[in-house]
Amino acid sequence: MHDDIERILLGESELRAGVERVAAEIAQVYCHEEPLVVAVLDGSVVFVADLIRQLPIPLRLSFVWARSYGAGTRGGELTQGGFPDASELRGRRVLLVDDILDSGRTLLALQRELALRGPRDVRTCVLLDKPVRRQVELQADHVGFQIEDAFVVGYGLDLAGRYRNLPYVGVLKSAVLAAAETGA
Ligand code: IMP
Ligand code: MG
Repeated sequence: MHDDIERILLGESELRAGVERVAAEIAQVYCHEEPLVVAVLDGSVVFVADLIRQLPIPLRLSFVWARSYGAGTRGGELTQGGFPDASELRGRRVLLVDDILDSGRTLLALQRELALRGPRDVRTCVLLDKPVRRQVELQADHVGFQIEDAFVVGYGLDLAGRYRNLPYVGVLKSAVLAAAETGA
């Protein structure tokens, strides 16, 4: 697995520092309002697990799922589901957490779908942000790291379901990427 990585973009201690910084921002926003943290499966699992343990505030945790079809590195048609009931969301402050903001289509669709269920507000938090890739008008409220336009894996992020368990964020070797694009 490590052999497929060309270089490490964010190592373990850098990630830890970033998570601590974002958690401090978030703790300031919510204080004692018991927000509902809604994490996007599967990619944000590692990030959200570390993030909530750095949040010294009362909160609730829930998960939604989002998938864009296609095994390679390009997003296709978007499907989503698993939303909390309106009774859980009504009047509550929501923090939507995802692994990465790329085109922005996923997070925007999820934010809109959650907003329909009557929360007080929906803020967004991502570990990684690739601003040059944006196709919709959206900025996350809390960002761990802005990164270059490279396909990254690890710390929850995958290529066709693999590499989520790497403890760092790394750039894949171009040969590995090319093989995935052609379905090899
Ligand atoms: P968006 O809808 O284009 O913003 O894409 C968001 C989703 O695409 C993320 O939740 C990831 O699952 C996936 N994604 C985008 N860029 C990367 C990457 O560099 N590595 C792994 N997954 C990515
Ligand atoms: Mg993914």
